[in-house]
This record gives sequence, structure tokens and C-alpha cells, in this order.
Amino acid sequence: MVGMTERGEDIHRLFHDVQRGPSARPAVEFLRAVEASPSVLAYRTRLEAHLAPAAGETVLDVGCGAGHHAAALAAARVAADAPGPVVGIDRPRMLEEAEARHGGVVRWLPGTAEALPLEDDSVDAVYAERVLMYVDEAADAVAEIARVRRPGGRVALFELDYASMTLGGDPKTADAVLAVVCGTVGCDRMGRALGPLLTDAGVLVVDQTPYAMPIPPPVFASAVRAPVEQAVAEGRLDADRVAAWFAELAVPGAYPGSVTGVLACGR
Ligand SMILES: C[S@@+](CC[C@H](N)C(=O)[O-])C[C@H]1O[C@@H](n2cnc3c(N)ncnc32)[C@H](O)[C@@H]1O
Repeated sequence: MVGMTERGEDIHRLFHDVQRGPSARPAVEFLRAVEASPSVLAYRTRLEAHLAPAAGETVLDVGCGAGHHAAALAAARVAADAPGPVVGIDRPRMLEEAEARHGGVVRWLPGTAEALPLEDDSVDAVYAERVLMYVDEAADAVAEIARVRRPGGRVALFELDYASMTLGGDPKTADAVLAVVCGTVGCDRMGRALGPLLTDAGVLVVDQTPYAMPIPPPVFASAVRAPVEQAVAEGRLDADRVAAWFAELAVPGAYPGSVTGVLACGR
């Protein structure tokens, strides 16, 4: 377990384009750690209730990562006597990891959110979790999701809204840190953008639920400490000020941080 004082891999850089990094392994480890967090389980319960695929319906996971959720969903459908195809789309290197872990329970399909390799109207229920914040043109990706979804099919999107992050410690340093952290994702307001993006793509928004999520130590190490230390190395943040801020956060009882994620569901 990574502690609050340790530095992880700059995870956002990896998620932007996992093909370019030396290995997908840190990304997979990160996803495994996040997978077990109660806040992820909380929004997923609502997301799955919205998708509710009937037997034989096709479900698509856009940006499926290491495939944990897609594989769990496929297994849950079998257990609920409502089996049907589950398709996971991501970059090839991520899908190698997904296939190695979960085998053929899901159809792993290489591709990108902006150009989904699927026919029009071919999917009954589609979801994407923590993906659009890495996509340069999120509107193109949402238009693609709307294109492959059959008319009236369900859509569920969950994205973090990095600009909503609250960090403890000295407020001025926390603000400077937040600016750096927000610069690491493609869009730091993706959570609040989901509803309008779906509406623009012709999807009727039926639910938008915000979730306040704690930032656990492994996420802090990869999503906050790593880019902040990079900014210090590049002279964008003052080293002493940042060191004092990290020390403040390491004191027992310090606020560890939180961020809002938004689940937007449509039909
Ligand atoms: C934070 S991970 C989330 C993975 C998975 N959705 C989950 O909840 O575990 C972000 C994923 O988005 C993928 N990704 C980033 N840009 C993408 C794009 N343009 N098209 C498809 N996937 C993309 C990354 O490769 C990575 O697997």
C-alpha cells in the first residue's frame, strides 16, 4: 500500500495514451486499487441499475481499462440469468492486460472513444467511466456513443470533475497544487460537462448524480504528488513551499482531500 508520503507514477500521463509509456502495469495496478474503493462501488450500483441489460442485449464499456468492471458485469449477467454480449473497447496495450486477467468473457475490441469500431445502432446499453476526461474532443466521443447506441438505448457516463477537488493544508499552496493537478487531465470539468454533452448528442438525460469521493493514498501518490513533484522539478512550484505542504498533510488528522465525480444517465 502506498502511503501519503510516497510518490507514484503520474497516472494521468499514462491514461492519456498508454501505448506511449514503457508499460501498462502501473495503470493496471492503479485501477485495481481504485476498483475496491467504496466510492467506486457506490456510483457503480446506480450505473448498473440504469443499464439493466436484458438477456441477449449488448453492453459496451468504452475505455474499459484492465476490464475489471466489464468482466464483473458479464459474470453478473450470467448469475442473474440474463447473459448477453459485453464488449470492452480500449487501446491495444490495455486490452492485452484485460485479456490476460479475464480471458474471453468479454469481447475485447481495440479502438478509441472518438472512432468506435462498431456499427450504428448496434448496442443496447453503453457506459464509460473516467475516460472522457482524457479524450481531447469529448464531444466527438459522446457523439460516437450516441451513434452506436440503438434508438432509446441506455447510456451511463461517470467522470471526475478535477476542478472540484478540495485539498487540505495551507490554502494558497493547495490552490497552486490544484492548478497543477487540473492541468494533468484533458478536461478538469468533465463531470459537470456530461449532461450538456449528452443533450447535444441527442440523448435524453434522465439522471445526474454527484458523488463526493475521498482521495485515498494510492490515488494521492499518483494523481497529486507525482505531478506536483514534476512541477517542482520544472520550477513551476516552489520546492520549500511544497515540502511544507506535504508535511502538513502527513500530520495525523489532516484532511486527505476529495473530488466530485458525476454520474450522468441517459436514454
Ligand atoms: C482511469 S482509466 C478507467 C478504466 C476503466 N473505465 C475503469 O473504470 O476501470 C482510463 C481509461 O481510458 C482509456 N482511454 C484514454 N483515452 C482513450 C480514448 N481516446 N479512447 C478509448 N479509451 C481511452 C485509457 O487507456 C484507460 O484505460
